[in-house]
Amino acid sequence: MSDLNTAQNSASDVKAESRIFPPPAAFAANATISGMDAYHAMCKEAETDYEGFWAKLARENLHWHKPFETVLDETDAPFYKWFEDGLMNVSYNCLDVNLQKGNGDKVAVIFEADGGEVTKVTYKELHHKVCQFANGLKSLGITKGDRVVIYMPMSVEGVVAMQACARIGATHSVVFGGFSAKSLHERIVDVGAVAVITADEQVRGGKHLPLKVIVDEALTLGDCEKVKNVVIYKRTGGAINLTAGRDLWMNDLVANQSAVCEPEWVSAEHPLFILYTSGSTGKPKGVQHSSGGYLLWAILTMKWTFDIKPSDVFWCTADIGWVTGHTYITYGPLAVGATEIVFEGIPTFPNAGRFWDMVEKHKATIFYTAPTAIRSLIKAADADANVHPAKFDLSSLRLLGSVGEPINPEAWMWYYNNIGRGNCPIVDTFWQTETGGHMMTPLPGATPLVPGSCTLPLPGIMSAIVDETGHDLPNGQGGILVVKRPWPAMIRTIWGDPERFKKGYFPEEFGGKIYLAGDGAIRNKDTGYFTITGRIDDVLNVSGHRMGTMEIESALVAHPLVAEAAVVGKPDDTTGEAICAFVVLKRSRPIGDEAKQIATELRNWVAKEIGPIAKPKEIRFGDNLPKTRSGKIMRRLLRVLAKGETITQDVSTLENPAILDQLKEAQ
Ligand code: PRX
Repeated sequence: MSDLNTAQNSASDVKAESRIFPPPAAFAANATISGMDAYHAMCKEAETDYEGFWAKLARENLHWHKPFETVLDETDAPFYKWFEDGLMNVSYNCLDVNLQKGNGDKVAVIFEADGGEVTKVTYKELHHKVCQFANGLKSLGITKGDRVVIYMPMSVEGVVAMQACARIGATHSVVFGGFSAKSLHERIVDVGAVAVITADEQVRGGKHLPLKVIVDEALTLGDCEKVKNVVIYKRTGGAINLTAGRDLWMNDLVANQSAVCEPEWVSAEHPLFILYTSGSTGKPKGVQHSSGGYLLWAILTMKWTFDIKPSDVFWCTADIGWVTGHTYITYGPLAVGATEIVFEGIPTFPNAGRFWDMVEKHKATIFYTAPTAIRSLIKAADADANVHPAKFDLSSLRLLGSVGEPINPEAWMWYYNNIGRGNCPIVDTFWQTETGGHMMTPLPGATPLVPGSCTLPLPGIMSAIVDETGHDLPNGQGGILVVKRPWPAMIRTIWGDPERFKKGYFPEEFGGKIYLAGDGAIRNKDTGYFTITGRIDDVLNVSGHRMGTMEIESALVAHPLVAEAAVVGKPDDTTGEAICAFVVLKRSRPIGDEAKQIATELRNWVAKEIGPIAKPKEIRFGDNLPKTRSGKIMRRLLRVLAKGETITQDVSTLENPAILDQLKEAQ
């Protein structure tokens, strides 16, 4: 929480924004939540009868095999339980329910591969695939409660694998395909996986990248005895090795399986998935989510935030390796019977017009992406008129969304004018891996928009801003973002580490029952709108990807040449934040070409230890790091140096002020 001052400072930059964009009248007229009165009425309902509010929504929006009687159980707070005695199945709610509603022949997924090939899958076909694969998993002996790691490219098969796990009550843990063998291994071991589902290779920007080879390497790193099988989806046909008795092709596994698979009815509290994310310590944490409460929120946010209608073509550009891909690709859109686009590849291949070309081709109506992607496409459009959105027919769009990091007002305005053509509301959705779904966001048919603000909490979400003693702060004063009541989609625990869950998210200093989001925020004096001012812990947000500074530091010091390392974030025009590492070697400080060469070696080392997303953009070498006389690294100063600014702070407590000059030079 030491960074609260930083948060307050940056808040002063954003609170000056005064442009307001009311929802277009035609949008508001047909919206699920139409007008601010409707929004306030729902908030009131939640405040008046909190459990009644959620119980009604859970009964109306989910299929229950056995209805729940208890709504919220707070006896073991902060280990809250929602709808626990109700029995349900997530995959049944996403697929079978749609068949019953007559959506069988509706397209569920429009998949576009890296090379542009398009595959369309109806709800009936998806149901068929999921049931066959679920039976295949069962034939391997995988049952309810087992954990399965999924390390797959963006594909229909990736969605099928997740849904199939849900169908049989196995808990999945998806690992993003950009993580290294070591990161994958760490997750396989921590979660205690009995199987890994992967592909031979993945394709990104025309390049074939290994997946199975990395799984093989991960499984040689020890403690993986629980893994009995590796199931491989053939994406490219690239050469791989098969270990007899352990490895099998997905196609062979499903070949003779029945397309009927009775779902495993599980308690609403049954863990649907565990997703690893970065925290302030070196070890990633396995965020455990529920089945019933989680799916309820995926459905409600699809309806409220995205105003989803049967005619929509919804496109979330995230990867299934992140929470956005879980909630707004695999579960939310399917549970509301939408047609969704799933894409493989990158926004800049075959050129930076890919997104706009796909919107035009598939007539996307709702488009949801990250500010980093928008910022890089602005640059590309400025540089090349052929990929400028003006070249494309984007008239199908009616709603835009942003996720994962703050969107700067300039990028917001470009998105609004050039992609939405001034007709599409933008929902700037603030949430986290831990929250399961959106927490604060404009409602497109109700909330007047302010660029750079996630505006107000959704009905039922009790967000507030408090000081370091947990007391409410008035509007206009920056502080710590908290949520005062539990909500159905919240994190249930950290897999295998309930103490870390309690201490990290529900600290005693705040009474032990208030969820601490990890971000700073400020509310506008007049509108009460929230603006997120950034993380208040040692977590960085690079291109919308969460990275722990300690994770990167641990990777660096594992290199034989490195004695000490400190990592800080540095503002970056495209990626939001960039990783800047200050490194002390076991030998003398390198300079010139040698420094450059060692910096490259260290970058590649980090890519191998964690994954390419963790590569420091800048590395600076010093004979030491700036430390207080008691030996504490002064990160505050490193942040200033990383920004290239002059240090104006008091450095009198510094043991070694001369070191600061050395650390100005980036490699
Ligand atoms: O700092 C906030 C930022 O991303 C963090 C959560 O990262 P992760 O768990 O990876 O989930 C990303 C996808 C939901 C938050 O603590 N963040 C997320 N959305 C926004 C945001 N910051 C500002 N505005 C947002 N809309």
